[in-house]
Amino acid sequence: MSQLDYLVTGAQGQLGRAVTAAIAQRGRRAFGVDVEEMPLEERGRILSTLLTHRPRWIVHCGAITNVDGCEQDPLAAHRVNGLATAWIAEAAGKIDAGLVYVSTDFVFDGSQAGTPYAVDAAPRPLSIYGSSKRLGEEAVLGRERDDHYVVRTSWVYGPGGRNFPRAILDRARAGQPLKVVTDQVGSPTLTLDLAEALLDLCDSGAPGGIYHATNSGHCSWHEFARAVLRAADLGDVEVATQLAADLARPAQRPAWSVLDNSKLDAALGRSMPTYTDAIARYLAAESILLASAAADPGVPGNQSGTLRGKEYK
Ligand SMILES: NC(=O)c1ccc[n+]([C@@H]2O[C@H](COP(=O)([O-])OP(=O)(O)OC[C@H]3O[C@@H](n4cnc5c(N)ncnc54)[C@H](OP(=O)(O)O)[C@@H]3O)[C@@H](O)[C@H]2O)c1
Repeated sequence: MSQLDYLVTGAQGQLGRAVTAAIAQRGRRAFGVDVEEMPLEERGRILSTLLTHRPRWIVHCGAITNVDGCEQDPLAAHRVNGLATAWIAEAAGKIDAGLVYVSTDFVFDGSQAGTPYAVDAAPRPLSIYGSSKRLGEEAVLGRERDDHYVVRTSWVYGPGGRNFPRAILDRARAGQPLKVVTDQVGSPTLTLDLAEALLDLCDSGAPGGIYHATNSGHCSWHEFARAVLRAADLGDVEVATQLAADLARPAQRPAWSVLDNSKLDAALGRSMPTYTDAIARYLAAESILLASAAADPGVPGNQSGTLRGKEYK
C-alpha cells in the first residue's frame, strides 16, 4: 500500500475533525488518533503508533485544552502538551515525517496591545497551559527541520465542537442571561479555515519555523458574541458586559493576543478569511451537521458517533 499522507492527533477534537475531513476532501489518506489509540502521556505508544503508520505528515492537534484545568495539574499539562510533542518530533525524525504542531496565542502575555504579535515576538506565557504549549514549540523548533511547522492560532471554534459560539447560542435560545468579557481581544478562528491553512502550508514547501494562522480581523469576546448572535438572527438578544477580573478564573489570559498572519499569507499567497465571514459559514455548517447527526448516529457531532482510530480517504 502507498504511504499514508497524514496522521492526525486529537482527531476527535474540534480541529482534528476539521483536519481529517479536509484531508479526505482533497482525496488524500489520513489516519486519525486520539486518547485511546495514542495516549499522549505514553512515549512508547507514540513511537509505536508513528513507526507503524509511517505517515508523510503528522498534524498534531491533540492537547489538553482546558486552560483553567491545566492550572490544577501542571505536570499533566506539561507532559501531554509539551513532552508528548517532543516525543512526536522524535518519532517524526525516525520516519522522516513532516510535522505541524498547532500552538496558541496564549504563549504571549498580551502586553503589546494594539500591535499584532509577529512570529518572532518574545513568548511570555501567563498560564500553565501557555507554558506547556511553549515547551512543545521548543521541542519542534529544536529539530531545525524544513518540514516542521509551529502554527499558532487563537480562539478556535468549529462545527460539532464545544466552544464559545455554541455556548452563546445555546444560552440565547434558552432565554438565559448573557454576560461577556470586554477587555480581552483576539481573533476568533474557524476550524474549517485553519484546517485548510495547515494543509496548504504542508503543500507550500515554505521553510520550517513559526507561522501564525487565525481568521483575519479582531474583536473582544463581547463583540464576538454580538457578531455570532447577529449572524444567527438573534441580534435583539441583550449581552451584558463584564471585565475579565470579575470572572476570577484560575488561569490568567492575555488581554490582547492578536497574531500577525503576514508570514503565512506570504507562504500561501492568500490571506485568511475574515472572522465575520467565518461565523456565517460556521452557522451553515453547524446546522447541516446537526441535521445529519439527528438522522445518522455515525456522523461527527453526534455524541454516539465515533471517529477514533479511523482511516479517512
Ligand atoms: N481551542 C482553542 O481555542 C485553541 C486556541 C489556540 C490553540 N489551540 C490548539 O489547537 C489544537 C486543537 O484544539 P481543539 O480546540 O481542537 O481542542 P480539543 O477539541 O480539546 O481537541 C483536543 C483533542 O486532544 C485530545 N487529548 C487530550 N488529552 C489527550 C491525551 N492525553 N492523549 C491523547 N489525546 C488527548 C482530546 O481528547 P478529550 O476531549 O477526550 O480530552 C481532544 O480530542 C490544540 O493543540 C490546542 O492547544 C486551541
